[in-house]
Amino acid sequence: CGIVGYVGSQSALDVVVAGLKRLEYRGYDSGGVAVLADGGLAAAKKAGKLVNLEKELADRPLPAGTTGIGHTRWATHGGPTDANAHPHLDNAGRVAVVHNGIIENFAVLRAELAERGHELASDTDTEVVAHLLAEEFSACADLAEAMRLVCRRLEGAFTLVAVHADDPDVVVGARRNSPLVVGVGEGEAFLASDVSAFIAHTRSAIELGQDQVVELRRDGVTVTGFDGLPADVRSYHVDWDTSAAEKGGYDYFMLKEIAEQPKAVADTLLGRIDASGSLTLDEVRIPGAALREIDKVVIIACGTAFHAGMIAKYAIEHWTRIPCEVELASEFRYRDPILDPRTLVVAISQSGETMDTLMALRHAREQGSKVLAICNTNGSTIPRESDAVLYTHAGPEVAVASTKAFLTQLVACYLVALYLGQVRGTKWGDEIQAVIRELSRISREVERVLETMEPVRELARSLAHKDTVLFLGRHVGYPVALEGALKLKELAYMHAEGFAAGELKHGPIALIEEDLPVVVVVPSPRGRSVLHDKIVSNIQEIRARGARTIVIAEEGDEAVAPYADHLIRIPATLTLLQPLMATVPLQVFACELAAARGNEVDQPRNLAKSVTVE
Ligand code: G6P
Repeated sequence: CGIVGYVGSQSALDVVVAGLKRLEYRGYDSGGVAVLADGGLAAAKKAGKLVNLEKELADRPLPAGTTGIGHTRWATHGGPTDANAHPHLDNAGRVAVVHNGIIENFAVLRAELAERGHELASDTDTEVVAHLLAEEFSACADLAEAMRLVCRRLEGAFTLVAVHADDPDVVVGARRNSPLVVGVGEGEAFLASDVSAFIAHTRSAIELGQDQVVELRRDGVTVTGFDGLPADVRSYHVDWDTSAAEKGGYDYFMLKEIAEQPKAVADTLLGRIDASGSLTLDEVRIPGAALREIDKVVIIACGTAFHAGMIAKYAIEHWTRIPCEVELASEFRYRDPILDPRTLVVAISQSGETMDTLMALRHAREQGSKVLAICNTNGSTIPRESDAVLYTHAGPEVAVASTKAFLTQLVACYLVALYLGQVRGTKWGDEIQAVIRELSRISREVERVLETMEPVRELARSLAHKDTVLFLGRHVGYPVALEGALKLKELAYMHAEGFAAGELKHGPIALIEEDLPVVVVVPSPRGRSVLHDKIVSNIQEIRARGARTIVIAEEGDEAVAPYADHLIRIPATLTLLQPLMATVPLQVFACELAAARGNEVDQPRNLAKSVTVE
């Protein structure tokens, strides 16, 4: 969910609604706002996207005020209805609360409130907080103190922002787990789930820590722990370019972000490999001695980031010979994984806020393992709780389906693998020199892929009526196939499956029927050419059974051409780096197909970009 709060001298509604639009990628099941005006509190909320809320505000304007809060929701408790949308109010309509997360003991609290005569209007856990805050405020007349008292009774993960009509120049926020950032302006202050909501107004930000409460007033910001003691805070300057959060002439953020990949890749490499081929990763503050002791790497991630982790495994094991496992973060801690201080856990997350990944990394640290985060969002929770972080420099990614973040995660994974080898003095031959040379020109090669995407778009449009698309790959092409299928599921709502091509004969081949589109990612014919030859056989097998083959193959690979109904060429590169090229046509394919089917490309149904619940 996305949260915004404002106190200052501008129209709170204008600031809050503009901020919510920037945060809509975090959830878009419903939206709502509350403003303090004329001694009272006025609120509006609407199911569906923010345009519905804007229409409501145009039809029934709220009174003008300079203190307000807002929310855009990804439903957890209670369906996406008007009643369940945030903010939630107490019975007297004096307190308004917005919330991100899940309050696990809400049923108990709700029963207690009902006993004390409160009437709850929604099915949400959030409404409970509005009622509890009203009770505490009536006793202490201090909203920050009321918030601290309430937070101490809540279990689960929550970030809350509240206003009270009896304290009209104050906005109070509380944070446990899901993110909350403070923006400090001249005579005004902001609260938001991420800085994009307020960078149009101020670039001076304060990161709230775990279990902290912030009180926002025009002339300043006070941060305490849930216990009321003053808290240490970290202030920082936001250097993201505002224009990076705009569509810049593209129809969709996703298209813009696909096009930004060459730059994102180059930025992520920048300054990290010197002319002699040696790596400088100053941010990786885990001492060399500890890295030399590592006997296992475990990668944890979700969704697209998990696919980056799968590819990293091939590179880490091949280049460094350190055993490497990859696991879905949501599965990891529940199976009692074997971890110790000699395990290096790598947590990959674009947002740095994914709850499954956060919980998995906490579990790993409890077992004494060192955690290195690969993350795109400065100051987010996952890097803060890790021993070290390697930031990807993709810039803000707004489209829900991850594209440029994925490519930069791959680059970061390659850097980590090479760095581990360097620190541990792995004996390397010419292969690593070739990898480093190749990385230095890879951004230009990604650019070349982008220049040749028109036939892919045409092909996607021609397949818009299909129900199913299958994806096959081998070696690093296998995770690429999974990522291609995930993109199509997310965006086109089509049945799409990725398989390891070698597994075809063990089951999936039964799915092949006349004219079924099957995308095949073909490894380089150079180097480990046996892989290449095996997949060429797979293509023949499916084609003989009627499949329509869509083949992604290197320039100059003539052996596959006779079996490809559609041939998508990518520049030749080293096998382990090929995902940087091969993924791009699959992103374009999914984006175009979704648009052709009339879907919302940037905000696919039921999804959210940053999932801060388990
Ligand atoms: C959500 C998004 C996915 C993303 C995943 C992991 O499910 O819809 O696109 O891959 O979370 O996100 P993270 O921010 O941890 O990389």
